[in-house]
Amino acid sequence: MSAASTTVSTTVLKSVPMFGTFPEDQLRALATMVTRRSAPRGSAIMRAGDPTDSLFIVISGRLKVMMGEADGKEVILSILGPGEFFGEMGLIDDNPRSASVIAIEPCELLSVTKRAFKKCLVENLDVATAVMRVLVRRLREADRKIGSLAMLDVYGRVARLLLDMSENVKGEKVVTKRLPKQDIAKMIGASREMVSLVMKDLQMSGYIEVRGSTIVLRDTIPQSR
Ligand code: CMP
Repeated sequence: MSAASTTVSTTVLKSVPMFGTFPEDQLRALATMVTRRSAPRGSAIMRAGDPTDSLFIVISGRLKVMMGEADGKEVILSILGPGEFFGEMGLIDDNPRSASVIAIEPCELLSVTKRAFKKCLVENLDVATAVMRVLVRRLREADRKIGSLAMLDVYGRVARLLLDMSENVKGEKVVTKRLPKQDIAKMIGASREMVSLVMKDLQMSGYIEVRGSTIVLRDTIPQSR
């Protein structure tokens, strides 16, 4: 990550969902405890096992949360984007980092020290609630993923991932932020070759349509074969 870090304006802090309800004086106090950093594509913000010292908030760019780099069997647990945060687990339970977080695009991040984060949690119920809601959402997503691994074949897992990644654009389900097939494979526990085959089959059968850099999904996309 870039060593160059800069201070943060209260306007930037106000745009972060977690701090959206802070009054101006609290934002000003927080701004003195937060730094802004740039992370180039491919850089590691943290590695699994590192000691914990801060929480990060994504201002722009995307990152992957992953495990297993050391033994060559990488698993991608999640893709994070603007407005999301990471590094809270180690701050809450004082354990080392549970996963590695790597920038897959150039990123702008805010970093909050452990002391400042804990102070925010204690003093502001909105922050504590926002953190709990995100933890619950991540647990739901993890449950869903365990369910897919146990109950769906690769065809179903690709279809479900595309559906989960899609957003509604003018009444159509569209994946606007595409991922390399290698990364899709690492998210659903399959090989890159198998993901390529399934995507080709979904396209040939008319369930997905590739339009430039986006993928449009048909409502009938099946989640099993
Ligand atoms: P921490 O354990 O401190 O460092 C790694 C971070 O990755 C972790 O905090 C979370 O913020 C994030 N993380 C771990 N597992 C997941 C997951 N399943 N989904 C999203 N983020 C995660």
